[in-house]
Amino acid sequence: MRRILSTAVVLACAAGFALAVEGMDWAYPVTPKGKGPPDKEKMLSVPGSKKQYTAAQIGDNFNPPDWFPDEHPPMPASVSTGRQPGVRACALCHLPTGGGHPESANMAGLPARYVIRAMEEYRNGNRVGVRATTMIDIAKAMNDDEIRSSAEYFASLKPHARQKVVESPTAPKSFVGGGGMRYASPEGGEEPIGSRIIMIPDSAEGAQRRNPKSNFVAYVPPGSVANGKGLAAGGNGKTVACGICHGPGLKGLGEVPGLAGRDPTYTFRQLYDIQQGRRKGDAVALMKAVVEKLTIDDMIALSAYTASLEP
Ligand code: HEC
Ligand code: HEC
Repeated sequence: MRRILSTAVVLACAAGFALAVEGMDWAYPVTPKGKGPPDKEKMLSVPGSKKQYTAAQIGDNFNPPDWFPDEHPPMPASVSTGRQPGVRACALCHLPTGGGHPESANMAGLPARYVIRAMEEYRNGNRVGVRATTMIDIAKAMNDDEIRSSAEYFASLKPHARQKVVESPTAPKSFVGGGGMRYASPEGGEEPIGSRIIMIPDSAEGAQRRNPKSNFVAYVPPGSVANGKGLAAGGNGKTVACGICHGPGLKGLGEVPGLAGRDPTYTFRQLYDIQQGRRKGDAVALMKAVVEKLTIDDMIALSAYTASLEP
């Protein structure tokens, strides 16, 4: 009996550990298995666009939708169509405007040298976070020209925030659906926010259709923005002032990426992955002293604060 019990305790602890590291599905959503949209051939539209696409086209890895082609520079092939079999078009997940979704990354206006380095880090095993696997496969399949042209394209885009940050003790009940995207539960209702950031699309349909103008609300625990502001200034020695390297207004400086207005679940994932050693390399070594003493709540607060800034 005692042996069975202690085995159960060991198993529970092991599961608990895995949960603590991998099970934060608000930051690390896992795409559920299931069938795709019911009618893949029906023509769909979004407000303000003359274009129409079927659900099959909206999910096309090698020719995703471009709802507002006049509102961004011409895309290089690496971004608009990619290359079969392994280079899935960047626009599928990061969108032609670069704004992306919470489960991927907002890349609009990132320095080209930074993006090129990021692709190298995905290739060489320095970025192995739970949500990095997609990018590892894509980066390994890309040639240097494709990496350069896509990096230059994203660097040329106007940085823009995709979310409004709302402090609240509760968040809408939600679930992770297709593509790893979080949606409000159809039955409605609220639940305590706890130590989480919950990002809900303004329109589930808009998010599903990859409409770059369909934004998100980021629910964050009360007090996060002010706490994050204090930490971003150095937190009385708990961390290092972000602006030294990320520039005034945290809008980026040289090759160091901007943080202002980026989606907070992405920012959290990076802080946590860096702290846990899942994101390494010479450049990110500068972040070591920054993340060392941060708690989960500190990282949530920093992510909420940076997301609330004008990019
Ligand atoms: C199927 C979806 C998908 C496609 C297609 C995709 N990405 Fe990503 N990308 C992601 C996800 C998910 C992340 C976030 C990884 C993480 O959280 O660690 C990401 C993150 C990134 C980052 C890190 C951003 C940063 O600030 O460090 C870069 C750079 C990037 N992608 C470049 C590209 C390029 C270039 C392409 C096209 C060749 C592309 N991606 C195509 C899903 C995708
Ligand atoms: C001493 C310099 C330095 C300081 C101080 C610093 N950072 Fe960074 N940070 C960097 C560098 C350099 C990178 C890019 C690493 C790379 O290229 O892989 C980075 C990357 C990041 C990333 C990943 C961005 C992305 O697009 O994936 C986040 C998030 C981040 N820092 C947050 C912060 C926060 C929050 C603070 C303040 C609490 C901070 N940093 C302070 C140097 C710094």
